[in-house]
Amino acid sequence: MSKPEVQAFFDEATFTVSYVVSDPASGRAAIIDSVLDFDPASGRTSTVSADGLIAYVKENELAIDWILETHVHADHISGAAFLQEQLGGQTAIGRGVTAVQSTFKSVFNLPDLAVDGRQFDLLFDDGDTFDIGSLSASVTATPGHTPACVTYVIGNTAYVGDTLFMPDFGTARTDFPGGSAAQLYRSIQKIFALPGDTRLFMCHDYKAPGRDEFAWETTVAAQRDGNIHVNKSVSEEAFVETRENRDRQLGMPKLLLPAIQVNIRAGRLPDPENNGIRYVKIPINAV
Ligand SMILES: [Fe+2]
Repeated sequence: MSKPEVQAFFDEATFTVSYVVSDPASGRAAIIDSVLDFDPASGRTSTVSADGLIAYVKENELAIDWILETHVHADHISGAAFLQEQLGGQTAIGRGVTAVQSTFKSVFNLPDLAVDGRQFDLLFDDGDTFDIGSLSASVTATPGHTPACVTYVIGNTAYVGDTLFMPDFGTARTDFPGGSAAQLYRSIQKIFALPGDTRLFMCHDYKAPGRDEFAWETTVAAQRDGNIHVNKSVSEEAFVETRENRDRQLGMPKLLLPAIQVNIRAGRLPDPENNGIRYVKIPINAV
């Protein structure tokens, strides 16, 4: 089994973990779930987070082949468009992005938005494979949190997006449009079917109560044994009940509205209006 080099970058503003996954043999690499910093109060973006990834790529003389998203994020703006300008590589996401685009095209009233995923260079179907230098990678559709969610399996590692969180924190919410707790349970079973020692990398960490440090790496075996929401002894029915009860108590992520309308466009900000300024829209009483 090939062993990629994995470097994590944690964004404390949105609790997001981005990864640079590289092939030590060739120096080819992929970026997974990058962040464009955005302060909603001032409307200012910055590239501090993305610049950290770029510095790592340059220091290690890596060549970026892929800029991957595990799903259309609702809690941060993707850095994919900026990183592609700076580093090249192809952007890709699961084909389910088309369902997310269709939903939000009407919410945001974007008549010109294409809903066939063409904003990305490539759309992955379940079971697709690709290479990062000498590393083989595959795509597993893991819907449930959103319809577009995929897990990337690269050598002995897997990037699960928002399916699982660390074992002591559980699982991701399933109350966004197109989400489903039952579907998430079945997707998680696919992750549990990977070899037990597969290194699993989370997209978020919120520090479970009683834990002092952020953490984002675990294993399939640790999840199967001890995830507080879904482990080898939890039935689908029990999980759906836990998950739906929890979802009823959650507020909306504070960047949901800005993030979705940019991320359905592969991280490209809306075009400037005739005064040269770009705007994000806030639909009133529509979500
Ligand atoms: Fe998410």
